[in-house]
Amino acid sequence: MEKADIGLIGLGVMGSNLALNIAEKGHRIAVFNRTAARTTAFAESAGALRDRIVPCETIEALAAAIRPPRPVIVMVQAGKAVDEQIALLRGVFSTGDIIIDAGNANFRDTVRRFSELEGSGLTFIGMGVSGGEEGARHGPSIMVGGTEESWRRVEPVLTAISAKYESEPCAAWLGTGGAGHFVKTIHNGIEYADMQMIAEIYGVLRDGLGMQPKEIGKVFGAWNRGRLNSYLIEITETVLAADDPKTGRPVVDIILDRAGQKGTGKWSVIEAQTLGIPATAIEAAVAARVLSSMKTEREAAEAAYGKLPAASFGDDKAAVLADLELALFAGKIAAYAQGFAVMKAASKEFEWGLPLPTIAKIWRAGCIIRSQFLGTIADAFEDGGTIDNLLMAPAFIGMMKEAHPSLRRIVARASEAGLPVPALASALAYFDSYRQARGTSNLIQAQRDFFGAHGFERIDAEGAHHGPWATA
Ligand code: 6PG
Repeated sequence: MEKADIGLIGLGVMGSNLALNIAEKGHRIAVFNRTAARTTAFAESAGALRDRIVPCETIEALAAAIRPPRPVIVMVQAGKAVDEQIALLRGVFSTGDIIIDAGNANFRDTVRRFSELEGSGLTFIGMGVSGGEEGARHGPSIMVGGTEESWRRVEPVLTAISAKYESEPCAAWLGTGGAGHFVKTIHNGIEYADMQMIAEIYGVLRDGLGMQPKEIGKVFGAWNRGRLNSYLIEITETVLAADDPKTGRPVVDIILDRAGQKGTGKWSVIEAQTLGIPATAIEAAVAARVLSSMKTEREAAEAAYGKLPAASFGDDKAAVLADLELALFAGKIAAYAQGFAVMKAASKEFEWGLPLPTIAKIWRAGCIIRSQFLGTIADAFEDGGTIDNLLMAPAFIGMMKEAHPSLRRIVARASEAGLPVPALASALAYFDSYRQARGTSNLIQAQRDFFGAHGFERIDAEGAHHGPWATA
């Protein structure tokens, strides 16, 4: 039988869709799942693509079905399951074969797996895949980490299955080791911030302006035709328009306000902190999900403190809506600036040479945070060369100057009304701190020196100094 070009382990939703995508692009693919019944069912349901799918009942059969050097995509739950599959593959693979972990792995696990496979003759690739179910089936954004040589071997398949933005593939090699999974983690951190800020604006529209879901959906729909144009705004409109078949009520109104999370947002915050890069909007978004899960405590706290009176956002609804759009845009700029600053720092720390413009480009289509805005980010990094922060790119200085007064007004009004806008407020505080040449840490330095003789720098002399505390 003709050998397959590539293999795939793990026929869950993402794995199945990725396998169909690969087959559709003309590649023969061998597939294996721990439960053989699922493998058979998958092959049987592949319709016109059935001929390009080689169902394998054992890992040995999978290895035998692929043309060497054998690339195999492992699409199983991040963590222990990946290590188990790698162990199985080590038993049947030989020199030159390539194991591709396409799950949402913690990049530190990826780094460990690289070192564990060192000397085995096997090649490892850590690959971030974004776009959910639909993306996997019709074109995800693909972030690859590993050796350049291994990328070249799988590049034709990966570029073929990836999303395209104006015919440019949204798949790229980003660096060695854990680079791909690190970038995917930051993608998800930004995704959390984006979603949280949208939810906060929804909260102002619902509780501040007393609008109904469908009406709010239309506002998002209108914004989707402007500077906020993006997949997340688009689906927000769609979601807000949907009715619950059981009750006839808007679906959003019957969904419990308790958000789940699988860990990537948290990892992005941990890594930002470890690298010493403030990613406050992302941190606020992760914390907001945690707080959302404390439903019972929140109910008790509302009973204890009482509800605040209905919010007043003024009579000029059109002006408030215009402010909300710009506030969301300003918050988004700050969140993306933070995410990219984290990647820049990581690139230096781990010597990856992360191509920031390329990352922005491969996020323009296929992934969850896809938007045209990412094209503007790509341009800023391409033109800006060595800019430290997106907020310093000339195009972004212009956009932020236009948008931050709105963010300020919305955060102020929401705070007065008791409507929580943690990610927007964090974005604003970050911006204000970043743009303030003389901050307030002189006082912190004085306190540190007072209680711990930590020393401080003077504005008028070199070296470490101490305060006159003994005489104070
Ligand atoms: C993507 C998404 C995806 C992630 C979900 C759920 O890029 O396709 O980031 O990888 O798993 O968004 O993540 P949470 O459960 O943590 O919200």
